[in-house]
Amino acid sequence: MRSMARNDPRQYDELADQWWRPGGSFEMLHWLAAARAALIPPADRPGAVLVDAGCGGGLLAPHVGGKGYRHVGVDLRREGLRQAAEHGVRPVNGDVTALPIATGAADVVAAGEILEHVTDLPATVAELARVLRPGGLLVLDTVNDNALSRFITVTAGEWLGFAPPHLHDPALFVRPRRLIAEFARHGVRVEVRGARPTMTGLFRWRVLRRERTGGRIVRSGLTTVLYQGTGRKEGERS
Ligand SMILES: C[S@@+](CC[C@H](N)C(=O)[O-])C[C@H]1O[C@@H](n2cnc3c(N)ncnc32)[C@H](O)[C@@H]1O
Repeated sequence: MRSMARNDPRQYDELADQWWRPGGSFEMLHWLAAARAALIPPADRPGAVLVDAGCGGGLLAPHVGGKGYRHVGVDLRREGLRQAAEHGVRPVNGDVTALPIATGAADVVAAGEILEHVTDLPATVAELARVLRPGGLLVLDTVNDNALSRFITVTAGEWLGFAPPHLHDPALFVRPRRLIAEFARHGVRVEVRGARPTMTGLFRWRVLRRERTGGRIVRSGLTTVLYQGTGRKEGERS
């Protein structure tokens, strides 16, 4: 893995057995998926579409399964998509900087732990906004860009096992202000709030090595490291 550059998405293939492994390397992604899903209301029409950008192994699926959406997952890596499909996600192989999805097709766009991995943030934001229908909901979570977030996510995080080594390139982390401005250019007004994992969950996961960690993502007064965002695209549904 170290032979690959930081953030090389091929690393997800080598980690593919971790997507659904209880207490595995992606444990915290499960907590994040549950917290993201809590921001998504039930579908307000039959056939509503949820586009899950950078869906990975489809960890969002169990949390939105009863909400009435067609859950479409887009990802670069096919092994993640295969596992996502096993959990009811309709898999689409593609790049979030050029989504193979029709304009205005999505009632909800979920961008969970993807914005800190893209090398072209303006193109990604433009695409997420393009596929969102007028009045549609954007839900995101990502990592802030500052010395503390780099230390916690990369320096300490990789050492302690909260994040697999080399998966993050801190140069791609995103400040909320920048994200808000990018989405505003495309008619999506985003509000952000801080989030953090529970300490007991982290302890059970990394120290006690439990498979059942009971970990959760809870609200934090600070957006310094991890933050969630929601936004509505301007306009009325036609
Ligand atoms: C940290 S994982 C997050 C997965 C999922 N959203 C979750 O929260 O469980 C990032 C995912 O984004 C995918 N990815 C990275 N860059 C991408 C791109 N440009 N287009 C589509 N998928 C991408 C990776 O293959 C990986 O599955």
